[in-house]
Amino acid sequence: MSNPATPTNVQWHSRLGFILASAGSAVGLGALWKFPYWAGANGGAAFILPYIFFTLTSGLALVMAEIALGRHGRGSVVTAMRRTGGRLAGAAGAFSVLTSFVILSYYSVVGGWCLAYLGDALVGRAVSGNVETLREHFATLVSTGWLNVSWHLVFLTLTCAVVMLGVEKGIERLSKVLMPALFILMLVLTVAGLFLDGAWEGVRYLFDIHWSDITSQSVLNAMGYSFFSLSLGAGILVTYGTYLPERACIPTASLWIAVLSIVASLLAGLMTMPAVFAFGLAPNAGPGLVFLTVPLIFSKLPGGILLAILFYASLLVTAITSSVSLLEVVVAYLRNNCHLTRRASTVMCWAGLLVLGAVSALSFSAWSGLTIFGRGFFDLLDYISTNFLMPLGGLAVVLLMGWKAWPVMRSELLSARTFPKAVVGLMHFLIAFLAPLLVLCALLQAF
Ligand code: PHE
Repeated sequence: MSNPATPTNVQWHSRLGFILASAGSAVGLGALWKFPYWAGANGGAAFILPYIFFTLTSGLALVMAEIALGRHGRGSVVTAMRRTGGRLAGAAGAFSVLTSFVILSYYSVVGGWCLAYLGDALVGRAVSGNVETLREHFATLVSTGWLNVSWHLVFLTLTCAVVMLGVEKGIERLSKVLMPALFILMLVLTVAGLFLDGAWEGVRYLFDIHWSDITSQSVLNAMGYSFFSLSLGAGILVTYGTYLPERACIPTASLWIAVLSIVASLLAGLMTMPAVFAFGLAPNAGPGLVFLTVPLIFSKLPGGILLAILFYASLLVTAITSSVSLLEVVVAYLRNNCHLTRRASTVMCWAGLLVLGAVSALSFSAWSGLTIFGRGFFDLLDYISTNFLMPLGGLAVVLLMGWKAWPVMRSELLSARTFPKAVVGLMHFLIAFLAPLLVLCALLQAF
Protein backbone atom coordinates (compact mmCIF):
# COMPACT_ATOMS: atom_id res chain seq x y z
CA MET A 1 0.00 0.00 0.00
CA SER A 2 2.77 2.44 0.60
CA ASN A 3 4.19 1.92 -2.86
CA PRO A 4 3.33 5.08 -4.77
CA ALA A 5 3.57 3.28 -8.09
CA THR A 6 0.49 1.20 -7.40
CA PRO A 7 -1.93 3.33 -5.44
CA THR A 8 -4.79 2.60 -7.80
CA ASN A 9 -4.75 -1.08 -6.89
CA VAL A 10 -6.24 -0.30 -3.51
CA GLN A 11 -9.91 -1.24 -3.28
CA TRP A 12 -12.67 -1.29 -0.73
CA HIS A 13 -13.13 -4.68 0.79
CA SER A 14 -16.88 -4.70 0.28
CA ARG A 15 -19.67 -2.48 -0.98
CA LEU A 16 -20.86 -2.06 2.58
CA GLY A 17 -17.39 -0.95 3.55
CA PHE A 18 -17.51 1.75 0.88
CA ILE A 19 -20.95 2.96 1.91
CA LEU A 20 -20.02 3.03 5.57
CA ALA A 21 -16.73 4.77 4.93
CA SER A 22 -18.44 7.37 2.73
CA ALA A 23 -21.25 7.77 5.22
CA GLY A 24 -18.54 7.91 7.87
CA SER A 25 -17.02 10.82 6.03
CA ALA A 26 -20.42 12.46 5.65
CA VAL A 27 -21.64 11.85 9.17
CA GLY A 28 -19.30 13.62 11.52
CA LEU A 29 -19.01 16.77 13.49
CA GLY A 30 -21.16 18.38 10.81
CA ALA A 31 -24.25 16.52 11.95
CA LEU A 32 -23.44 16.32 15.63
CA TRP A 33 -21.82 19.63 16.31
CA LYS A 34 -22.76 21.95 13.48
CA PHE A 35 -26.32 20.98 12.61
CA PRO A 36 -27.89 21.66 16.02
CA TYR A 37 -26.39 25.11 16.38
CA TRP A 38 -26.92 26.11 12.76
CA ALA A 39 -30.50 24.92 12.83
CA GLY A 40 -30.82 26.79 16.11
CA ALA A 41 -29.39 30.00 14.71
CA ASN A 42 -31.34 29.84 11.43
CA GLY A 43 -34.83 29.34 12.73
CA GLY A 44 -35.19 25.54 13.01
CA ALA A 45 -37.53 24.33 10.32
CA ALA A 46 -36.65 27.33 8.13
CA PHE A 47 -33.24 25.75 7.84
CA ILE A 48 -34.15 22.07 7.91
CA LEU A 49 -36.59 22.11 5.01
CA PRO A 50 -34.24 23.70 2.48
CA TYR A 51 -31.46 21.49 3.81
CA ILE A 52 -33.41 18.32 3.04
CA PHE A 53 -34.41 19.70 -0.35
CA PHE A 54 -30.82 20.51 -1.29
CA THR A 55 -29.53 17.19 -0.04
CA LEU A 56 -31.97 15.16 -2.11
CA THR A 57 -31.49 17.22 -5.28
CA SER A 58 -28.19 18.97 -5.85
CA GLY A 59 -26.51 17.03 -3.05
CA LEU A 60 -27.51 13.63 -4.35
CA ALA A 61 -26.56 14.60 -7.90
CA LEU A 62 -23.14 15.65 -6.72
CA VAL A 63 -22.59 12.52 -4.68
CA MET A 64 -23.25 10.43 -7.80
CA ALA A 65 -21.11 12.63 -10.00
CA GLU A 66 -18.17 12.63 -7.60
CA ILE A 67 -18.16 8.87 -7.09
CA ALA A 68 -18.52 8.21 -10.83
CA LEU A 69 -15.72 10.62 -11.59
CA GLY A 70 -13.42 8.93 -9.11
CA ARG A 71 -14.15 5.43 -10.32
CA HIS A 72 -13.74 6.39 -13.94
CA GLY A 73 -10.60 8.48 -13.54
CA ARG A 74 -8.84 6.61 -10.72
CA GLY A 75 -5.70 8.00 -9.10
CA SER A 76 -6.19 11.18 -7.08
CA VAL A 77 -8.90 13.79 -7.51
CA VAL A 78 -6.52 15.79 -9.71
CA THR A 79 -5.68 12.80 -11.90
CA ALA A 80 -9.32 11.73 -12.12
CA MET A 81 -10.46 15.18 -13.19
CA ARG A 82 -7.64 15.66 -15.66
CA ARG A 83 -8.20 12.27 -17.27
CA THR A 84 -11.90 12.93 -17.57
CA GLY A 85 -11.94 16.59 -18.52
CA GLY A 86 -8.48 17.82 -19.48
CA ARG A 87 -6.09 20.27 -17.88
CA LEU A 88 -8.61 22.86 -16.71
CA ALA A 89 -10.58 20.18 -14.91
CA GLY A 90 -7.33 18.99 -13.37
CA ALA A 91 -6.78 22.47 -12.00
CA ALA A 92 -10.25 22.39 -10.47
CA GLY A 93 -9.20 19.13 -8.84
CA ALA A 94 -6.18 20.80 -7.31
CA PHE A 95 -8.52 23.40 -5.90
CA SER A 96 -10.45 20.61 -4.13
CA VAL A 97 -7.24 19.38 -2.57
CA LEU A 98 -6.71 22.83 -1.14
CA THR A 99 -10.31 22.91 0.12
CA SER A 100 -9.83 19.64 1.98
CA PHE A 101 -6.65 20.91 3.54
CA VAL A 102 -8.29 24.10 4.76
CA ILE A 103 -11.32 22.31 6.19
CA LEU A 104 -9.20 19.76 7.99
CA SER A 105 -7.19 22.48 9.69
CA TYR A 106 -10.15 23.82 11.68
CA TYR A 107 -12.09 20.55 11.78
CA SER A 108 -9.21 19.16 13.76
CA VAL A 109 -9.68 21.87 16.38
CA VAL A 110 -13.26 20.76 16.97
CA GLY A 111 -12.05 17.16 16.93
CA GLY A 112 -9.74 18.20 19.74
CA TRP A 113 -12.73 19.39 21.78
CA CYS A 114 -14.27 15.92 21.41
CA LEU A 115 -11.06 14.38 22.71
CA ALA A 116 -11.02 16.76 25.64
CA TYR A 117 -14.59 15.81 26.52
CA LEU A 118 -13.77 12.13 26.21
CA GLY A 119 -10.92 12.71 28.64
CA ASP A 120 -13.32 14.45 31.01
CA ALA A 121 -15.83 11.63 30.68
CA LEU A 122 -13.18 9.09 31.58
CA VAL A 123 -12.42 10.86 34.84
CA GLY A 124 -16.12 11.34 35.53
CA ARG A 125 -16.21 15.08 34.90
CA ALA A 126 -18.25 15.28 31.70
CA VAL A 127 -21.66 14.95 33.29
CA SER A 128 -23.28 17.78 35.15
CA GLY A 129 -26.74 19.16 35.75
CA ASN A 130 -25.46 22.69 36.24
CA VAL A 131 -25.67 24.84 33.13
CA GLU A 132 -23.29 27.50 34.44
CA THR A 133 -20.58 24.97 35.28
CA LEU A 134 -20.87 23.48 31.81
CA ARG A 135 -20.75 26.83 30.13
CA GLU A 136 -17.64 27.79 32.05
CA HIS A 137 -16.05 24.45 31.30
CA PHE A 138 -16.48 24.87 27.56
CA ALA A 139 -15.33 28.48 27.66
CA THR A 140 -12.18 27.51 29.55
CA LEU A 141 -11.38 24.79 27.05
CA VAL A 142 -11.61 26.99 23.98
CA SER A 143 -10.17 30.13 25.46
CA THR A 144 -7.09 28.55 27.00
CA GLY A 145 -4.76 28.75 24.02
CA TRP A 146 -2.25 26.03 24.89
CA LEU A 147 -5.02 23.62 25.88
CA ASN A 148 -6.95 24.15 22.66
CA VAL A 149 -3.81 23.80 20.54
CA SER A 150 -2.70 20.67 22.41
CA TRP A 151 -5.98 18.86 21.87
CA HIS A 152 -5.88 19.87 18.22
CA LEU A 153 -2.38 18.40 18.02
CA VAL A 154 -3.49 15.09 19.55
CA PHE A 155 -6.51 14.81 17.27
CA LEU A 156 -4.47 15.62 14.19
CA THR A 157 -1.86 13.04 15.11
CA LEU A 158 -4.54 10.38 15.56
CA THR A 159 -5.97 11.24 12.14
CA CYS A 160 -2.55 10.94 10.55
CA ALA A 161 -1.97 7.59 12.22
CA VAL A 162 -5.16 6.14 10.73
CA VAL A 163 -4.32 7.46 7.27
CA MET A 164 -0.87 5.94 7.48
CA LEU A 165 -2.42 2.54 8.13
CA GLY A 166 -4.19 2.88 4.78
CA VAL A 167 -7.70 2.62 3.47
CA GLU A 168 -8.71 -0.91 4.27
CA LYS A 169 -6.96 -1.52 7.52
CA GLY A 170 -7.59 1.87 9.03
CA ILE A 171 -10.63 3.63 7.68
CA GLU A 172 -12.88 0.78 6.64
CA ARG A 173 -12.54 -1.26 9.82
CA LEU A 174 -13.10 1.64 12.10
CA SER A 175 -16.24 2.80 10.29
CA LYS A 176 -17.85 -0.61 10.35
CA VAL A 177 -17.83 -0.90 14.11
CA LEU A 178 -18.34 2.59 15.40
CA MET A 179 -20.91 4.06 13.02
CA PRO A 180 -23.66 1.70 14.20
CA ALA A 181 -22.67 2.31 17.84
CA LEU A 182 -23.07 6.04 17.38
CA PHE A 183 -26.53 5.75 15.86
CA ILE A 184 -27.71 3.59 18.75
CA LEU A 185 -26.38 6.04 21.32
CA MET A 186 -27.99 8.98 19.58
CA LEU A 187 -31.30 7.16 19.70
CA VAL A 188 -30.88 6.57 23.44
CA LEU A 189 -30.09 10.24 24.00
CA THR A 190 -33.02 11.37 21.88
CA VAL A 191 -35.51 9.21 23.73
CA ALA A 192 -34.10 10.27 27.10
CA GLY A 193 -34.18 13.92 26.07
CA LEU A 194 -37.82 13.72 25.04
CA PHE A 195 -38.81 12.77 28.58
CA LEU A 196 -37.47 16.03 30.00
CA ASP A 197 -39.97 18.68 31.06
CA GLY A 198 -40.53 21.16 28.27
CA ALA A 199 -38.75 19.01 25.72
CA TRP A 200 -41.55 19.22 23.17
CA GLU A 201 -40.92 22.95 22.77
CA GLY A 202 -37.65 21.91 21.18
CA VAL A 203 -39.29 19.44 18.84
CA ARG A 204 -41.74 22.10 17.80
CA TYR A 205 -38.90 24.53 17.22
CA LEU A 206 -37.31 22.05 14.86
CA PHE A 207 -40.36 21.06 12.89
CA ASP A 208 -42.96 23.85 13.03
CA ILE A 209 -42.70 25.79 9.84
CA HIS A 210 -42.96 29.55 9.86
CA TRP A 211 -42.62 30.54 6.25
CA SER A 212 -41.59 34.05 7.22
CA ASP A 213 -38.47 32.61 8.89
CA ILE A 214 -37.18 31.33 5.56
CA THR A 215 -34.78 34.03 4.44
CA SER A 216 -32.16 34.05 1.71
CA GLN A 217 -29.54 33.71 4.42
CA SER A 218 -31.14 30.64 5.98
CA VAL A 219 -31.44 29.06 2.54
CA LEU A 220 -27.82 29.85 1.75
CA ASN A 221 -26.72 28.40 5.05
CA ALA A 222 -28.82 25.30 4.41
CA MET A 223 -27.13 24.82 1.05
CA GLY A 224 -23.71 25.29 2.60
CA TYR A 225 -24.54 22.84 5.34
CA SER A 226 -25.86 20.31 2.83
CA PHE A 227 -22.49 20.46 1.05
CA PHE A 228 -20.58 20.24 4.28
CA SER A 229 -22.57 17.35 5.65
CA LEU A 230 -22.25 15.30 2.47
CA SER A 231 -18.52 16.09 2.24
CA LEU A 232 -19.01 17.53 -1.25
CA GLY A 233 -16.83 19.72 -3.39
CA ALA A 234 -13.64 18.81 -1.58
CA GLY A 235 -12.66 15.76 -3.59
CA ILE A 236 -13.62 13.31 -0.83
CA LEU A 237 -16.07 11.16 -2.71
CA VAL A 238 -13.96 11.38 -5.86
CA THR A 239 -11.03 9.98 -3.92
CA TYR A 240 -13.13 7.31 -2.21
CA GLY A 241 -14.69 6.51 -5.60
CA THR A 242 -11.25 5.74 -6.99
CA TYR A 243 -11.15 2.74 -4.64
CA LEU A 244 -14.60 1.50 -5.67
CA PRO A 245 -14.91 -1.76 -7.64
CA GLU A 246 -16.75 -1.80 -10.99
CA ARG A 247 -19.62 -3.95 -9.79
CA ALA A 248 -20.85 -1.50 -7.15
CA CYS A 249 -24.02 0.43 -8.07
CA ILE A 250 -23.37 4.14 -7.76
CA PRO A 251 -26.97 5.46 -7.59
CA THR A 252 -27.90 3.05 -4.80
CA ALA A 253 -24.77 3.78 -2.80
CA SER A 254 -25.31 7.52 -3.27
CA LEU A 255 -28.87 7.38 -2.05
CA TRP A 256 -27.71 5.52 1.04
CA ILE A 257 -25.10 8.13 1.78
CA ALA A 258 -27.60 10.98 1.41
CA VAL A 259 -30.26 9.29 3.52
CA LEU A 260 -27.86 8.30 6.30
CA SER A 261 -26.57 11.83 6.41
CA ILE A 262 -30.08 13.32 6.71
CA VAL A 263 -31.04 10.82 9.40
CA ALA A 264 -27.90 11.60 11.38
CA SER A 265 -28.48 15.35 11.18
CA LEU A 266 -32.12 15.09 12.22
CA LEU A 267 -31.25 12.75 15.06
CA ALA A 268 -28.59 15.16 16.24
CA GLY A 269 -31.16 17.95 16.18
CA LEU A 270 -33.66 15.82 18.08
CA MET A 271 -31.01 14.85 20.57
CA THR A 272 -30.04 18.47 21.26
CA MET A 273 -32.97 20.82 20.80
CA PRO A 274 -35.41 19.35 23.35
CA ALA A 275 -32.72 19.63 26.02
CA VAL A 276 -32.00 23.20 24.94
CA PHE A 277 -35.56 24.16 25.73
CA ALA A 278 -35.93 21.94 28.78
CA PHE A 279 -32.91 23.57 30.42
CA GLY A 280 -33.66 27.08 29.26
CA LEU A 281 -30.64 27.46 26.96
CA ALA A 282 -30.74 29.62 23.85
CA PRO A 283 -31.14 27.66 20.59
CA ASN A 284 -28.66 30.02 18.93
CA ALA A 285 -26.01 29.59 21.61
CA GLY A 286 -23.29 28.88 19.05
CA PRO A 287 -20.60 26.25 18.55
CA GLY A 288 -20.69 24.98 22.13
CA LEU A 289 -24.33 23.89 21.96
CA VAL A 290 -23.90 20.14 21.76
CA PHE A 291 -21.21 20.23 24.45
CA LEU A 292 -23.68 21.89 26.78
CA THR A 293 -26.79 19.85 26.19
CA VAL A 294 -25.42 16.33 26.08
CA PRO A 295 -23.89 16.45 29.59
CA LEU A 296 -27.18 17.82 30.86
CA ILE A 297 -29.16 14.89 29.48
CA PHE A 298 -26.64 12.41 30.79
CA SER A 299 -26.97 13.91 34.26
CA LYS A 300 -30.60 12.79 34.23
CA LEU A 301 -29.89 9.23 33.14
CA PRO A 302 -28.98 6.20 35.24
CA GLY A 303 -25.44 5.17 34.30
CA GLY A 304 -24.95 8.60 32.75
CA ILE A 305 -21.20 8.58 33.30
CA LEU A 306 -20.74 5.34 31.44
CA LEU A 307 -23.02 6.48 28.62
CA ALA A 308 -21.06 9.71 28.39
CA ILE A 309 -17.84 7.79 27.86
CA LEU A 310 -19.48 5.76 25.11
CA PHE A 311 -20.96 8.84 23.53
CA TYR A 312 -17.77 10.85 23.39
CA ALA A 313 -15.87 7.82 22.13
CA SER A 314 -18.29 7.45 19.22
CA LEU A 315 -18.30 11.18 18.61
CA LEU A 316 -14.55 11.07 18.39
CA VAL A 317 -14.68 8.22 15.93
CA THR A 318 -17.16 9.93 13.60
CA ALA A 319 -14.95 12.97 13.74
CA ILE A 320 -11.97 10.82 12.82
CA THR A 321 -13.72 9.03 9.96
CA SER A 322 -14.42 12.48 8.51
CA SER A 323 -11.02 13.98 9.18
CA VAL A 324 -9.39 10.90 7.73
CA SER A 325 -11.37 11.35 4.53
CA LEU A 326 -10.18 14.95 4.27
CA LEU A 327 -6.58 13.96 4.77
CA GLU A 328 -6.86 11.05 2.34
CA VAL A 329 -7.66 13.52 -0.46
CA VAL A 330 -4.44 15.42 0.10
CA VAL A 331 -2.36 12.30 0.66
CA ALA A 332 -3.72 10.61 -2.48
CA TYR A 333 -2.77 13.72 -4.41
CA LEU A 334 0.76 13.83 -3.02
CA ARG A 335 1.24 10.12 -3.73
CA ASN A 336 -0.16 10.08 -7.22
CA ASN A 337 0.95 13.43 -8.49
CA CYS A 338 4.08 14.23 -6.52
CA HIS A 339 5.24 10.62 -6.18
CA LEU A 340 5.74 10.74 -2.45
CA THR A 341 5.17 7.74 -0.20
CA ARG A 342 2.08 7.52 1.97
CA ARG A 343 4.24 8.06 5.01
CA ALA A 344 6.05 11.15 3.71
CA SER A 345 2.82 12.70 2.43
CA THR A 346 1.12 12.18 5.76
CA VAL A 347 3.99 13.68 7.75
CA MET A 348 4.09 16.75 5.51
CA CYS A 349 0.37 17.31 5.92
CA TRP A 350 0.67 16.86 9.66
CA ALA A 351 3.19 19.69 9.89
CA GLY A 352 1.21 22.11 7.70
CA LEU A 353 -2.09 21.36 9.38
CA LEU A 354 -0.59 21.72 12.81
CA VAL A 355 0.30 25.31 12.08
CA LEU A 356 -2.86 26.34 10.25
CA GLY A 357 -5.05 24.63 12.85
CA ALA A 358 -3.17 26.31 15.67
CA VAL A 359 -4.04 29.70 14.20
CA SER A 360 -7.72 28.66 14.22
CA ALA A 361 -7.43 27.36 17.76
CA LEU A 362 -5.82 30.57 18.96
CA SER A 363 -8.53 32.67 17.36
CA PHE A 364 -10.62 31.84 20.44
CA SER A 365 -8.01 33.24 22.80
CA ALA A 366 -4.74 35.08 22.18
CA TRP A 367 -5.66 36.08 18.63
CA SER A 368 -9.34 36.70 19.14
CA GLY A 369 -8.77 40.35 18.24
CA LEU A 370 -7.58 39.38 14.78
CA THR A 371 -10.67 39.56 12.59
CA ILE A 372 -11.01 39.50 8.83
CA PHE A 373 -14.33 40.71 7.36
CA GLY A 374 -15.59 40.83 10.92
CA ARG A 375 -14.89 37.15 11.56
CA GLY A 376 -12.31 35.39 13.66
CA PHE A 377 -9.93 33.08 11.79
CA PHE A 378 -11.73 29.85 12.72
CA ASP A 379 -15.06 31.30 11.70
CA LEU A 380 -13.65 32.77 8.52
CA LEU A 381 -12.20 29.46 7.33
CA ASP A 382 -15.48 27.72 8.06
CA TYR A 383 -17.49 30.40 6.28
CA ILE A 384 -15.29 30.50 3.20
CA SER A 385 -15.09 26.73 2.87
CA THR A 386 -18.77 25.99 3.20
CA ASN A 387 -20.10 28.93 1.22
CA PHE A 388 -17.46 29.34 -1.49
CA LEU A 389 -14.81 26.64 -1.78
CA MET A 390 -17.06 23.59 -1.56
CA PRO A 391 -19.80 24.95 -3.87
CA LEU A 392 -17.17 26.01 -6.42
CA GLY A 393 -15.54 22.58 -6.32
CA GLY A 394 -18.96 20.96 -6.65
CA LEU A 395 -19.92 23.17 -9.57
CA ALA A 396 -16.82 22.09 -11.48
CA VAL A 397 -17.71 18.42 -10.96
CA VAL A 398 -21.35 18.65 -12.06
CA LEU A 399 -20.50 20.76 -15.07
CA LEU A 400 -17.87 18.26 -16.09
CA MET A 401 -19.94 15.13 -15.49
CA GLY A 402 -23.28 16.53 -16.61
CA TRP A 403 -22.02 18.04 -19.85
CA LYS A 404 -18.60 17.26 -21.16
CA ALA A 405 -18.36 13.75 -19.75
CA TRP A 406 -22.03 12.76 -19.70
CA PRO A 407 -21.42 9.53 -21.68
CA VAL A 408 -18.87 8.48 -19.07
CA MET A 409 -21.21 9.48 -16.27
CA ARG A 410 -24.05 7.54 -17.84
CA SER A 411 -22.08 4.37 -18.24
CA GLU A 412 -20.81 4.64 -14.66
CA LEU A 413 -24.38 5.06 -13.39
CA LEU A 414 -25.49 2.00 -15.31
CA SER A 415 -22.42 -0.15 -14.70
CA ALA A 416 -23.93 -2.46 -12.10
CA ARG A 417 -27.60 -2.43 -13.02
CA THR A 418 -29.90 -0.86 -15.54
CA PHE A 419 -32.48 1.77 -14.69
CA PRO A 420 -35.61 2.69 -16.65
CA LYS A 421 -35.10 5.45 -19.20
CA ALA A 422 -37.13 7.93 -17.15
CA VAL A 423 -34.90 7.43 -14.11
CA VAL A 424 -31.76 7.95 -16.17
CA GLY A 425 -33.37 11.08 -17.63
CA LEU A 426 -34.11 12.34 -14.13
CA MET A 427 -30.54 11.73 -13.03
CA HIS A 428 -29.30 13.57 -16.10
CA PHE A 429 -31.59 16.50 -15.34
CA LEU A 430 -30.35 16.61 -11.74
CA ILE A 431 -26.69 16.47 -12.67
CA ALA A 432 -26.65 18.66 -15.76
CA PHE A 433 -29.28 21.27 -14.93
CA LEU A 434 -30.73 21.44 -11.47
CA ALA A 435 -27.55 20.97 -9.45
CA PRO A 436 -25.48 23.55 -11.38
CA LEU A 437 -28.36 26.01 -11.25
CA LEU A 438 -28.89 25.67 -7.50
CA VAL A 439 -25.20 25.85 -6.74
CA LEU A 440 -24.78 28.85 -8.99
CA CYS A 441 -27.66 30.72 -7.32
CA ALA A 442 -26.18 30.01 -3.92
CA LEU A 443 -22.77 31.19 -5.03
CA LEU A 444 -24.11 34.38 -6.52
CA GLN A 445 -26.01 35.09 -3.37
CA ALA A 446 -22.95 34.42 -1.24
CA PHE A 447 -20.93 36.89 -3.30
N1 PHE B 1 -19.11 15.81 6.23
C1 PHE B 1 -18.28 15.99 7.36
C2 PHE B 1 -19.11 16.24 8.57
O1 PHE B 1 -20.28 16.41 8.49
C3 PHE B 1 -17.32 17.10 7.22
C4 PHE B 1 -16.57 17.08 5.96
C5 PHE B 1 -16.66 18.13 5.10
C6 PHE B 1 -15.79 16.00 5.67
C7 PHE B 1 -16.01 18.10 3.92
C8 PHE B 1 -15.14 15.96 4.49
C9 PHE B 1 -15.26 17.04 3.61
O2 PHE B 1 -18.62 16.32 9.63
